[in-house]
Amino acid sequence: MLEHLEKIRSQALRAIEKSGSEDLEAIRIKVLGRKGELTSILKSIGSLPAKERPRFGQLANKFKKEIEAALERRKAQLESGGQVQQIRGLDPTLPGRRCHVGRLHPVSLMMGEVCSVFERMGFSVVQGPEVELDFYNFEALNIPPDHPARDMQDTFYVDDKVLLRTHTSPIQVRTMEKISPPLRIIAPGKVYRCDSDVTHTPMFHQVEGLMVDRLVSFADLKGILTYFVQEIFDKDTAVRFRPSFFPFTEPSAEVDIQCVMCRGKGCRVCSHTGWLEVLGAGLVHPAVFRYVGYDPEQYSGFAFGLGIERITMLRYGVDDIRLFYDNDLRFLEQF
Ligand code: DAH
Repeated sequence: MLEHLEKIRSQALRAIEKSGSEDLEAIRIKVLGRKGELTSILKSIGSLPAKERPRFGQLANKFKKEIEAALERRKAQLESGGQVQQIRGLDPTLPGRRCHVGRLHPVSLMMGEVCSVFERMGFSVVQGPEVELDFYNFEALNIPPDHPARDMQDTFYVDDKVLLRTHTSPIQVRTMEKISPPLRIIAPGKVYRCDSDVTHTPMFHQVEGLMVDRLVSFADLKGILTYFVQEIFDKDTAVRFRPSFFPFTEPSAEVDIQCVMCRGKGCRVCSHTGWLEVLGAGLVHPAVFRYVGYDPEQYSGFAFGLGIERITMLRYGVDDIRLFYDNDLRFLEQF
C-alpha cells in the first residue's frame, strides 16, 4: 500500500514537470479528481487496521498537498512563458524590442510620383551617367565656353573634359543621339553643384523631360506642365509661364505655381509675390537638334527640368533642404 502511494506521487510529479498547459487539468483529475488515484486511496483508509490509519492518512494528505502545489507552480510557470524562462538571464516578461520598418526617402517618393504622372502621359523613363563629359553637359546643349554655369565655382570637374553633371539635360542629348523622333522621355537622377545653404545641397535631384515630334508647340508644353503641376499639388493650383533664358531652348520660360502655402496671397515662402518658381522649360533650340542630327525644319520639341527637392519641400512644407540629408529618423519617418 505504501509503495503504491509512493508510486502515485512520483508519477504525478514527473507528469506535471513535463506537462503543457493543456495537460494540467487532466493530471489533476487523474490523481486528485473524485475518482482519482490518490482520492481512492484516501477513501479506502477506513478499511485499514486502526493503528496504521493515522500514519498512512498523514502521508497521503502530505502527498496530496505536494501534488497540488506542483500543479500550481507549473501553471504559473507556463503562463509566464514556460520553459523559456528557465534560460538563464532571459526575462520573457520584459517588453519586446520594436522592429523598425524601413521606408522610402521623401525624395525617392517624390521622384516616383513625378515619373508616374509622366508615364501616364506616355513618357518613358531613361537614365544617363552622373560622371559626364563636358560635351554632353555643356557643349551639345549650346552652352558656350564662357557661360557662367561652366565656372569652376559651380561645377565639380574631374579633369578638363570630365565632370559631375550639373543638370539632367545631357540625357536629352544622349537620348536623341540614340533614338530618332518621335520621342517622349523623362530622365530622373542626381546632379551636382558646388553650392550649399538652406535651399542648396552639393548633390540634389532633377527630372528632365523631352518630347520631340512634328509640330510640337509651346501649347503642348503648357498643357502638359499644367496637368503635371495640378496632379502633384492640387487641381486648383494656378500655373504661370514667365519668359526666361536657357541656351538650349528658344523660347525659354520659367514656370511658377501659385504659392501653395498662402494660396497666392503673399507670404514669407513666396517672398510676398504669391508665386513660386518650380521649373525651367522651353522649345528645344535648333542648335541642339543639329548636334544630334535631327532636322529642325521637320521636327520641333519641348524640354523641361525640375528640382525634386524643391517640389518635395513645397509639397510637405519643409523649410531646410539639408533635412533631407541629415538622416535623422525623426524627420524621415514622417513620410
Ligand atoms: N537644366 C536646367 C537647370 O538645371 C533646367 C532646364 C531648363 C531644363 C530648361 C530644361 C529646360 O530641359 O528646357 O537649371
